[in-house]
Amino acid sequence: MAEDFDVRLAEKNYVPDPSYQQNSWLGDYQKAYAEFQKDPDAFWDRIAKELHWFRPYSRVKEWNYPYAKWFLDGKTNITYNCLDRHVINSRRNKVALIWRGEDDCERIYTYRQLFREVMRVANGLKKLGVTKGDRVCIYMPMVPEQIISMLACARIGAVHSVVFGGFGAAALNSRIAGAAAKVVITADVTFRRGKSIPLKHIIEEAIINAPSVEHVVVLRREQTQPVEIHKEMEIDFYDMIKDVKAECEPEVMDAEDPLFILYTSGSTGAPKGIVHTCGGYMVGTYYTAKNVFDIKENDVYWCTADPGWITGHSYVVYGPLSLGATIVLTESTPDFPDPGVYWRMVEEFGVTILYTAPTAIRMFMKLGEEWPGKYNLSTLRILGSVGEPLNPEAFEWYYRVIGKSKCPILDTWWQTETGMHMITTMLGEPMYPGFAGKGIPGVVADVVDKDGKSVPPGTGGFLAIREPWPSMLRTVYNDDERYRKYWNTIPGCYAVGDLAVKNKAGYIMVLGRSDDLIVVAGHNIGTAEVESALVSHKAVAEAAVIGKPDDVKGNIIKAFVILRVGHTPSDKLKNELLYHVRITLGPIAMPSEIDFVATLPKTRSGKIMRRVLKAKEMGMDPGDVSTLDE
Ligand code: WT7
Repeated sequence: MAEDFDVRLAEKNYVPDPSYQQNSWLGDYQKAYAEFQKDPDAFWDRIAKELHWFRPYSRVKEWNYPYAKWFLDGKTNITYNCLDRHVINSRRNKVALIWRGEDDCERIYTYRQLFREVMRVANGLKKLGVTKGDRVCIYMPMVPEQIISMLACARIGAVHSVVFGGFGAAALNSRIAGAAAKVVITADVTFRRGKSIPLKHIIEEAIINAPSVEHVVVLRREQTQPVEIHKEMEIDFYDMIKDVKAECEPEVMDAEDPLFILYTSGSTGAPKGIVHTCGGYMVGTYYTAKNVFDIKENDVYWCTADPGWITGHSYVVYGPLSLGATIVLTESTPDFPDPGVYWRMVEEFGVTILYTAPTAIRMFMKLGEEWPGKYNLSTLRILGSVGEPLNPEAFEWYYRVIGKSKCPILDTWWQTETGMHMITTMLGEPMYPGFAGKGIPGVVADVVDKDGKSVPPGTGGFLAIREPWPSMLRTVYNDDERYRKYWNTIPGCYAVGDLAVKNKAGYIMVLGRSDDLIVVAGHNIGTAEVESALVSHKAVAEAAVIGKPDDVKGNIIKAFVILRVGHTPSDKLKNELLYHVRITLGPIAMPSEIDFVATLPKTRSGKIMRRVLKAKEMGMDPGDVSTLDE
């Protein structure tokens, strides 16, 4: 790829107040980076030592390309660092979690209360026969019990696999079956925009072809009409913990034992179960929560992500709790009952650090400045963004309207696979709108050609990571071949699958995916999954989907469908197909547009050329079409 990009934008930058860096945990970025480069193992050793280990590790890392082990022979439990440590020390009565429901009801947990609830649920799971290494699927709305269930699994060494509550039955089934989950924890309903959306029937359908499931734990939220519990297999969440003790010793985990599996869309075939471990993931999320977000004792930290995604795992739950932070969680959508809910919460809770997604920022931009203008946002000191490129317009709006031109903006680039932040502009460094930044201390990030050679500023290339890092994925569950692919696509590098370009200051701008993934409103959707959902409908012979740029969502999904003989295009059929995708994969994977077509562009080997469809859709030159079968 030798395209030239316009990097004039890079000349525009914002220089933040130097006190941000002076007062930060990390201090000077350049200095910290140089220290890391001088001796990477010593750098990570210093950080890991800030955490509690039941038995110290004997070595920081073992790198056997492409396999890494971190903190070898170390024994720990991430919940000890997230809970016991704070309860034993000075944070016993500090607020750990503030939760706000849609109807403004609130629940607040101190560290002691959260600790006790986690131990009760841990004991409840033990009672159901869950032991170290068993997989537990968590399919829940954004309620405290979702976080408590994750921590309860970690407490006893069970491997959680959280599935985002917006997924449909087929998506859920493939994730439960893929991980062979023994127990599923779910809820009767999720509340959204004033309505209750039933979840339990989705579970019932999803476990039909999942023989590994022995129990379904149901959190019953609907008071007036409680759902029925089918005793053969189901148990009420609070019945499970009615008579159990609120003490449960942490399971002693090896640093390399799996902590969780989290499924992410792949460019082909089934979703990939990304495997993270107890030691390295703990160190990576602790380090970044502390040094990227600079969370301090009195901060009120709010990451708006659903714990069902990696952002929620790392930066709602494990990172901030390992630091003893006060976190905010809400089930409410950003525009209900009005587009002021988020800003009202910032004012009411005195939020100091806010971490959200470009798609939300762009939605707020459209709704107008009067909404944030109604509330006092002066407590905010740091703003974060994640999930997709933060375009310069959105950056400037976020900076000016929300941050009042004083808060640094952290555009954090990372992935489910990386576990922790990898690229951003550290506090106090000059910010270039549109550019995420550079590798954080501990990370060697670069823009390279297909041979792994650095490309000069202004030339597009592949984003790649050159050295292993503690919270890197260790494998793809039951599919190590796919793990190796990350490391054998570009020689010597971890290939992330994104295209990027650097400016003269070495800052990296992420341009988008290079493979068949579509990032819709910050959610990674695999073209393969949507296509196979469409093809599973009786009227569809073939389908291809592409991402189409959208002002608010970043991308929308557009589908091209070839019908089977005997079926004719109609609006009714279109709606039927949309409904079909909604039921199988969930609303997030629904196409916004469907075109019925007679043929699809294919290579001679029969692969659909989505690139050609996309170019045509956008009125662009399709580039090299030498492999196209005319
Ligand atoms: C992909 C990873 C990491 C949490 C959310 C998504 C895109 C993520 C940024 C950013 C530009 C970004 C990339 C990446 N992405 N953050 N700051 N700027 N693009 O996790 O579902 O694993 O998706 O999201 O394409 O590869 P994920």
